[in-house]
Amino acid sequence: MPRTKDICITVLYQEDAYTLRAYEGEYRSLMELIYDHVYALAFGECRGMGRCGTCRVQIMNHSGPLDSMDRNETATLQKMGISSQNTRLACQIPLTHALHELTVRILEEDEI
Ligand code: FES
Repeated sequence: MPRTKDICITVLYQEDAYTLRAYEGEYRSLMELIYDHVYALAFGECRGMGRCGTCRVQIMNHSGPLDSMDRNETATLQKMGISSQNTRLACQIPLTHALHELTVRILEEDEI
């Protein structure tokens, strides 16, 4: 019996909204899920190493489990001059049930 895709995430990019569905573990990270379904220019250039900062997303409606960042993510965001608690690297967010009903906005290159 096929598994149900029980994680639903809304991704906002430019003028569009995408509803993405997945099951836990289908993708390693939120970045990989977005990369596979949304064509966003230059998104995820380092493929999840946490160094390029091109997978920046703004968390629109979530708190709690997403609040903790590891040292590399914090350092990359600081190098970019970003201090907002709502801005995260999608490649550093594991795709788990905790993300169900999350809404994120992909940040453009010139947005901090
Ligand atoms: S893909 Fe490069 S920092 Fe996330």
